[in-house]
Order: sequence, then structure tokens, then C-alpha cells
Amino acid sequence: MKLQGTADPQFRSDVLSGLRGPRRAIPARWFYDARGSELFDDITRLPEYYPTRTETALLESSSSSLATLIRPGAAVIEFGAGSATKTPLLLEAIAPSAYVPIDISGDYLRMSADVLQSRFPSLKVIPVEADFTGWVELPADLGAAERLGFFPGSTIGNFVPRSSVDLLRHMRTILGEGAKLLIGFDRIKPDNVLIPAYDDAAGVTAAFNLNLLNRINRELDGDIPVDAFVHDVRWNDMQSRIEMHLRCTRDIRFSVAGEAFAMHAGDSIHTENSHKYDLRGLRLLLRAGSWTPIADFSDSNDWFTLVLAEAAPLFAAP
Ligand code: AVJ
Repeated sequence: MKLQGTADPQFRSDVLSGLRGPRRAIPARWFYDARGSELFDDITRLPEYYPTRTETALLESSSSSLATLIRPGAAVIEFGAGSATKTPLLLEAIAPSAYVPIDISGDYLRMSADVLQSRFPSLKVIPVEADFTGWVELPADLGAAERLGFFPGSTIGNFVPRSSVDLLRHMRTILGEGAKLLIGFDRIKPDNVLIPAYDDAAGVTAAFNLNLLNRINRELDGDIPVDAFVHDVRWNDMQSRIEMHLRCTRDIRFSVAGEAFAMHAGDSIHTENSHKYDLRGLRLLLRAGSWTPIADFSDSNDWFTLVLAEAAPLFAAP
């Protein structure tokens, strides 16, 4: 048991307020404790989970096009600590002068930045420990290098459209005039592909979802009976998203951080949204977020799309 008061206060308030309402929901960002990050890593290697390998293949197949669209010497600003496979593919393709990963988790950030630095010795690697949904000051030594934002993984899908637009505009502000953005979107596809990607046969995604309850119990002094919950995946067609829920299978009472809660059989906690887009929809989302698409790359099934966009002029005519 972790001593009370040592947990992240934001985690505590998100969980407590998320459990109070009749529409229980906890933000997906809290999945990623040490165990959750490990489980997510396992997810990316599952046969049913197509996004990671599809996007990786797209980075490989688009590398020469990207090299013509982005001049050498750019500064790559990654929103997130970066993946050990995808980031090197981009860096090899476009020969940038600097790489700036931005992540809230400082230890993981510095570790992966060190690995990257040893692989690209002449690259300026400057990790920035920050929450990129808030204000981020870019390192001064980037100078006049062209800025390329990198936001892979379809992480944008975790945000509802309104928040996606806010985030895209925010990235536009951080990166500034003349910047570009390379961003991954997961596409709408048949249910029989989409559902298994979030409800795999080996039960890894179920364990990932349920691990949130273990984290709450450990870090927030909870006594949630984890065995009363099952992993529940739904396709919400109206909102074009996969939803993950934790569904309660019997009537229970529990407490978290000293506060009492009750749930009935059939009640659930909404734990993640993963929005899926068609090509027109994702282009419109980018434009609403002040980014003009200039090129996009999709696999032959149209299961995933990488888009290169440029910062829209602040006052576009007409
Ligand atoms: C990291 C948000 C892109 O939505 O596919 C994978 C997270 N959740 N399996 C996704 C996730 C369940 C993932 N993202």
C-alpha cells in the first residue's frame, strides 16, 4: 500500500470525480503506470493490434517522399517520449539537426533520449520534461531550423474532436509559423477487424484495462474488488470511436482514498475512447486545428494514415 498523500493529486481527483457521477469515466492517460506501459508494449505486438505495425510500415514506405517534403536540418519535436522503432525511422528519413521529445514522465524520457543519442551521435537531442497539453517553451538553441512536429500512434484518437482541435491549435502555437506536423490517424474499418484489436484473444488488452483498478487500489488506498469487473469493448458508430469500459458483474461497495462508492451489476466505468476517422474527416479535423494537409500516406487496406500538414496562416482569406 502506498502512503496516502504520495499519489499524483491529479490522478486522485480524476479518479474520485470520475467515480462519483452516474456516467463514470476515468481519463485514459492513467493507464500508463509501469505495469500499464509494459502491457501497452505487449499490445503493440499482438497479431490483432494492427496500428503499430501498419504505421511503422508507412514510415518505411514514405521515407523518400518525406525526404523531399522536409528539408534536411529540421528540428523534430515529438509529442511523447518516442518509440524505439518509429522515431529512428523518421530521423533516418529526413536527416534533422535536432530532436526534441516532450513527455511528462522524466525518467522514461531521459532513458529513451540517451538511447537515441547514442544511435544518432551528431544529432542534437534535447528532451523536454513537460505536459504538452500545457505551455511548452522550445529550447532556444533550435535557432531558425524548420520545425516538424511528430505525433504518431493515433494518440490523437484518445481525444474527443473538440479537444483534438484544441490540442492541434496548441501544437500550432508551440511550433509556430512555417512549421509542419506529421501525425498518425487510425481509420474507420470493419467491426471484425476493429473489435479484436481492442479485445484480443490472449486477453492482454483486458489486463491493460483492468490494471487501472490495481493502480487505483495501490496508489489511492482503494479496495476495489477487481474480480468483479470485466473488460468491455464497444464500437460507438455515432461518435466513430472504440470505447473501452470496465463493466461490473455484481453489486459491490468499495472505497478509494477514504471515499465510499457503490456499483451495481451492469454499471460500468468508461476508461478510453479511440476515435477512428475517414480521410475527409481527418483532413477536416486538421484544418479545424489550423493545419493544412499537404500529403498523406495510407496502407493498401486504408487501415491507417500518416498525414504531413503545414501550419495554416493565422488569418486565412477569404
Ligand atoms: C495509444 C491511444 C493509440 O487507442 O489504440 C490500445 C491505446 N488502448 N489498446 C489506441 C490502446 C487499447 C492506443 N493509443
